[in-house]
Amino acid sequence: MRLVVEPACGPLTGRYVAPGDKSISHRLAILAGLAEGESVVSGYLDSADTHATLAAMASLGAVVTEANGQLRIRGGTLAAPDTPLDLGNSGTGVRLLAGALAGHPQLFGHRIHLVGDASLSRRPMDRIIEPLRGMGGKIEDRSGCLPLVLSPAPLRGIRYRPRVASAQVKSAVLLAGLWADGETVVVEPGPSRDHTERLLPAFGVEVSRRDEEIGLVGGQTLQPGRFHVPGDLSSAAFAVAAGLIVPGSQIELDNVGLNPSRDGVLRILEAMHGQVDRHAAAAVGNEPVGSLSVQASGLKGADIPPAWVPLAIDEFPVVMALAAVAEGRTTIRGAAELRVKESDRLAVMCRQLARLGVVVNETADGAEIQGGPVRGGIVDSCGDHRIAMSLAVLGLVAEAPVRIENAEWIRTSYPGFVDDLSALGAVLHWEEEE
Ligand code: S3P
Repeated sequence: MRLVVEPACGPLTGRYVAPGDKSISHRLAILAGLAEGESVVSGYLDSADTHATLAAMASLGAVVTEANGQLRIRGGTLAAPDTPLDLGNSGTGVRLLAGALAGHPQLFGHRIHLVGDASLSRRPMDRIIEPLRGMGGKIEDRSGCLPLVLSPAPLRGIRYRPRVASAQVKSAVLLAGLWADGETVVVEPGPSRDHTERLLPAFGVEVSRRDEEIGLVGGQTLQPGRFHVPGDLSSAAFAVAAGLIVPGSQIELDNVGLNPSRDGVLRILEAMHGQVDRHAAAAVGNEPVGSLSVQASGLKGADIPPAWVPLAIDEFPVVMALAAVAEGRTTIRGAAELRVKESDRLAVMCRQLARLGVVVNETADGAEIQGGPVRGGIVDSCGDHRIAMSLAVLGLVAEAPVRIENAEWIRTSYPGFVDDLSALGAVLHWEEEE
């Protein structure tokens, strides 16, 4: 399906409530499915990715019911499913699940197949296979990619330093460590989002955190609980970006997760002279949550420090869209990880921006983007939800309508995107592709 975005003819205004956090939703589905008893989760993200993880847990024996906007997940008794677990487009789902299942004692003697869609099947899994094998995990793969076949087996603790700063790798190893003999320690090469180590203690698991070392001792029992999922800053980033570039806009955002390991996008926007004020963050569960006020601003290009990249890893498509209309040049470096996301986000964004007349130079680990006028025209999400939404935001300030092909992928993380932007005053509609 094609999403048509009309150039905005007035400011975007109003209150915006972000959908539930995707990373936290995945983790809650998995941890509640492992915990012995019934957990209650409110605010769980309604999206294709997070449904895939929940469905996988249900296939493994977790009992999932939904009523009055709350999920009830009864876990603790896993059984091998008859069919492959299909994680669709979700790297987080498949990597965290592989870790959680690799040494699960209730699954010993079984074979569990993990599969995904074409995009996920191209993404590197060796980054989790290597440490899990190092723990004694038995995993068959196809040249470091899906499908994976797990033969859950007893694991031993490991001290592991991933090659890249990755919350998915860290989490896969820690979740495997839950069943391992002895202590499992991940030594982070750089900071990455810390939702797993914040959530595990809420399930009664003792986690040690010393500088860049996160550890736990295997054999601890997970206790169920009540949890609330805060709003996703990565989804809210599209509304924030739209508010910054559509002249005269003023948007108030409530219930946004402001975890410091995720707030790189706010630092980048500040460096680009975007006016985004944060208001008193309170803790919801173990996560800082707050509100934001966004005011349309004359953005300026910036040289983004590589150290900020892991803290804003999912927001680079929208940052690149903003750079296209900022005054001057924006430089991104140290961001080669973007090439192994749902698409090669550096290549795809550079190609689509060029189709709209933006002057871009793709580099091995980043891009240089010269801000200027943006033409209308046809672009392609290339099956990547965040690219579709980033191009939609850019369309609001293009000279003519922007038509985004394959935009239905937005459902991966944010099915309410079009409605939420429309409620702020944007004009977008769906059109069949010829
Ligand atoms: C995620 C971690 C990030 C991010 C992804 C969600 C998570 O990936 O890109 O969308 O929930 O752990 P990496 O940790 O591989 O960088």
